[in-house]
Amino acid sequence: MGKAVSILTKNLKNINIDTIDDYLAAGGYEGLKKVLTLTPTEVIEKVKNSGLKGRGGAAFPTGKKWEEAAKVKEDSYILCNADEGEPGTFKDRYFLEFDPYRIIEGMTIAAYAVGGREGYIYIREEYGKQKEIIIRAIDNAKARGLLGNNILDSDICFNIKVISGAGAFICGETTALIQSIEGGGGRPKIKFKRTAESGLFGKPTLANNIESYCVVTTLFTDDAEQYLSLGTDESRGTKVISLCGNVENPGVYEVPFGITLREIIYDIGGGIKDGRDFKFAQIGGASGPIIPKSMMDLKYSYEDFKKEGYSIGSGAVLVADDTNSVADFMVTVQEFFVHESCGKCTPCREGNRQLLKIAHKVAEKKATQEDLITVKRVANVMKNCSFCGLGTAAPTVMVTAIQHFYDMFD
Ligand SMILES: Cc1cc2nc3c(=O)[nH]c(=O)nc-3n(C[C@H](O)[C@H](O)[C@H](O)COP(=O)(O)O)c2cc1C
Ligand code: SF4
Repeated sequence: MGKAVSILTKNLKNINIDTIDDYLAAGGYEGLKKVLTLTPTEVIEKVKNSGLKGRGGAAFPTGKKWEEAAKVKEDSYILCNADEGEPGTFKDRYFLEFDPYRIIEGMTIAAYAVGGREGYIYIREEYGKQKEIIIRAIDNAKARGLLGNNILDSDICFNIKVISGAGAFICGETTALIQSIEGGGGRPKIKFKRTAESGLFGKPTLANNIESYCVVTTLFTDDAEQYLSLGTDESRGTKVISLCGNVENPGVYEVPFGITLREIIYDIGGGIKDGRDFKFAQIGGASGPIIPKSMMDLKYSYEDFKKEGYSIGSGAVLVADDTNSVADFMVTVQEFFVHESCGKCTPCREGNRQLLKIAHKVAEKKATQEDLITVKRVANVMKNCSFCGLGTAAPTVMVTAIQHFYDMFD
């Protein structure tokens, strides 16, 4: 299938997850066994040297985050962000559903490396089936002595609880997620101290995305060499993407960093559905940029996207064909943000409403040059003054639509 690979994703749909046996037969827990022959510092060093950047969207270096957590003398809570609320993103769902033990193993490696006894998987309410699967996998791991006290006869004692959110996009943001687990409203909170020092219940906390934990597990297996041989200098390895919209073969694929968008859409996705023409792709979910046809040879890597002022975000690649209207798409995305803005800060709460009004005007062909200036002004305030990442990223779709489809405003 084109340039897709199967390293991190090799178990997806290939093992029976009802018992832990298939996972063990496929090399599962070899990673943790290897980790136990290393010191926690050596484990963190290996994660740092891999160049792994967090796969939840912000691309923060995972090894650096673990190093900060390890410096704190108390045990850390090990959080796994399974909220996956970004529209068009469904790659974490695949790990939950088809390779849950890889997530559990990765969290256990983190517990050993930074020092932790309790873990939480925060899973979105809509993932009911996946929640049942991960709970069963935790029970199976416990029954085999792979969770609980003295895991693999070591000193590690680690347990995992599963908590559901109520299905709000903002609950994927770490401070909102923490408040939600604590029983409060899922809203971002000001950080006086780093999460590594004061997070869940005011205690040291390490939070990572599902895919990040899965990469960590892979880094300590025989697959590590092959994994790290792929990608580019600054984006090593692969990214698991969720390809959706008007392509022939939508789905979850593992792609090496450095692949072009054209290769993703045409070689892997089988091209535009029903032989139609490509119009644009939105990368990284609703918060991501719109990419026009002229940029189809852009390489999918952190550094190539950064050069354009974009980020690759969560891994969503949503494709629109020539029957889709950019203006209608902007309306849909802005409606999403008006609905999901938690309302705590003015730039995001009011800015999204203003942008939606203008998106409607564009769709009705009533927008003026003054509206265009207003979009830029509002977007600038939102980007610089919003309290959290939802508000700073929300104008991206309109800003990039203006950049690439300026004639809509004519
Ligand atoms: C509005 C918003 C929603 C987010 N949703 C998610 C999510 O669903 N899953 C996720 O892993 N990270 C999400 N994040 C990013 C997290 O705040 C955090 O950076 C990430 O979970 C850290 O893990 P990583 O370093 O392994 O990527 C979201 C951030 C924002 C601002
Ligand atoms: S940016 Fe939006 S989601 Fe974030 S705190 Fe402000 S209002 Fe809430």
